Amino acid sequence: MAKPVSRILVINDEHLVLREFVKGLNAAARSLDNPLGIAFSGVTTAKEALAAIESDGDIQAVLVDDTLYTLGKNNGSRRLQVSALELVQRITRFRPELSVYILIAQEKEDDVVDALFTESVDGYFYREERDYRGIYRILNAQIQERARTPFTDQLKNYVWMAKDQWHTPGHSSGESLRGSPWVNDFYEFMGEHVFDADLSVSVPMLDSLMEPKGVIAEAQHMAAQAFGARRTFFATNGTSTANKVIFQTLLAPGEKLLLDRNCHKSVHHGVVLSGAHPIYLDSALNRKYGLYGPVPKNTLFAAIRKHPDAQALILTSCTYDGLRYDLAPIVAAAHAKGIKVIVDEAWYGFARFHPDFRPTALEAGADYATQSTHKVLSAFSQASMIHVNDPTFNEHLFRENFNMHTSTSPQYGLIASLDVARKQAVMEGYKLLSRTLALGKELREQINSTRVFRVLELEDLLPDEVKHDGIRLDPTKVTVDISGCGYTVDDLQKELFERYNIQTEKSTFNTLTLLLTIGTTRSKVSRLYDALMRIARGGKAPRRLVRTPEIPGFTKLRYLPRDAYYCGGELMPVFDDKERVNRALARRVCADQIVPYPPGVPVLVPGQVITRAIAEYLASLLRSQKRMEMHGIVLEGYQPCVRVLKPAEERGLHRIG
Ligand SMILES: Cc1ncc(COP(=O)(O)O)c(C=O)c1O
Repeated sequence: MAKPVSRILVINDEHLVLREFVKGLNAAARSLDNPLGIAFSGVTTAKEALAAIESDGDIQAVLVDDTLYTLGKNNGSRRLQVSALELVQRITRFRPELSVYILIAQEKEDDVVDALFTESVDGYFYREERDYRGIYRILNAQIQERARTPFTDQLKNYVWMAKDQWHTPGHSSGESLRGSPWVNDFYEFMGEHVFDADLSVSVPMLDSLMEPKGVIAEAQHMAAQAFGARRTFFATNGTSTANKVIFQTLLAPGEKLLLDRNCHKSVHHGVVLSGAHPIYLDSALNRKYGLYGPVPKNTLFAAIRKHPDAQALILTSCTYDGLRYDLAPIVAAAHAKGIKVIVDEAWYGFARFHPDFRPTALEAGADYATQSTHKVLSAFSQASMIHVNDPTFNEHLFRENFNMHTSTSPQYGLIASLDVARKQAVMEGYKLLSRTLALGKELREQINSTRVFRVLELEDLLPDEVKHDGIRLDPTKVTVDISGCGYTVDDLQKELFERYNIQTEKSTFNTLTLLLTIGTTRSKVSRLYDALMRIARGGKAPRRLVRTPEIPGFTKLRYLPRDAYYCGGELMPVFDDKERVNRALARRVCADQIVPYPPGVPVLVPGQVITRAIAEYLASLLRSQKRMEMHGIVLEGYQPCVRVLKPAEERGLHRIG
């Protein structure tokens, strides 16, 4: 197993003093306990310091002498200088996870401490004391503290205590499976610790996710610090649940929510559960590639102006395809009207740990951010985090809603994986993300070099309506135009899977999206390149690709989605007896959410009026896209049907539009 390496950068503009410090500190590191592999190195200028912090992902802490530093030269060749305070600001802006200590002269103590008070400085040392062993001990303890996983450590402790279990789960550390002629193979396949560590609330020393006071509270607190939140909550049922919990906290029935119509389906489910009055905002559509982009800034600003009574706004950033909003001005406009901002960062949980991805939603001022840690960091599936920066956070209400959605037997392995994912992001996130970015760049170049496949860049992806909205691309999402390769997207995915052992993330009729994560390796990149090159060299003539029909615009919401959803309704077929579109569907009100998947954008939501165009759209999808999932369509025998409100039910409901 690789041992950790932790470099600490000492920054001091006096060569001799610096050399003495580095030597003394390294001597202390060698002679004292050093489990994290701490070693000190030094630089004399701000420029060198910033370069080292950028290039060396093993740097865990900096020790900055309080003096003026050379940063470089300006155009007139005058030396540019920065103070220690400015240098600390630049360092923490670049890598907020680093520990920062200041070396000060005793006589300047008060000034320095005052100036750095609001900065994330972890501590001070008197330069003149030259207490290398003392400094080393403190830095070592600080880095060890950040690398702790309080929950996971306790879980391991408990497993090693090997207590007799008179409690759930029923498999009792795997005893029920071990040695069984029928199911031992599952035990062997999964491994003993999966069962040993599958514990839950029955063990008080492991704390309770419903009322954390011990190691879960501690792990959540450390996650909040790491992700830049006031509070962080671990969710064991994905961001799907996280979104619903926040909605039920912020929105009472009938209260307005501004939302992107292209939001994840959990957001639409959250609307039903909370009883909110949704104001749907149409996202921009890239027709050439069938990709739904962000909502145009103008549409957002207009909606905020028109609905100042809205309680909340939710946006997805980045989108599945990696498009990131310029969030700060949108958040500011919403806050100016007292509207809370929730950002669904399901695909962006790593962003805090590399400057190329920042600002995160919280850094841009959002009140809530939900992240599928499992999608992009090293957590188990379903393990997500809810980060809260809402200054008027109602913890009691949040807790009630959180507990309403959380199993009373959460899988503690998921919580451990969140604890570990946070540790990894803090300790080596920058380094791994730098590698991922480099691999992404390489992959893009390699794909383009096939001259058949082409990676879509930001300008290709952006629909015209959002071209000037300051949108950026997360380069870990690589969308490839496959229209020149001679395969349909389904056939290409099949070929990649069956012949080359490659599973991709998502597709449209002419694109394939690949997801790079901190788990992407150079070997995987090479194998993918090899596969695409072979396919490209196969020289198939490009074929006509059938475009998925465009989703019709939103029509009209006549009733609150919750009211419509809870009506019994009746089933109405999409086709009539002669297999034509059933004209009787038009003007009826839908009771369910109808979502063709992909792309997963609802065509209808509960309470929405069905038009002839929508009925025709559904019919055309059902006829032509046999493989597409059609969530919400009910099959009555072979007849695809939509659940609609009965006229009598409509008469009993309050109309909102
Ligand atoms: C934008 C968005 N939000 C939320 C979710 C749900 O996340 P989870 O799978 O963690 O429940 C997804 C899942 O694909 C998503 O794409």
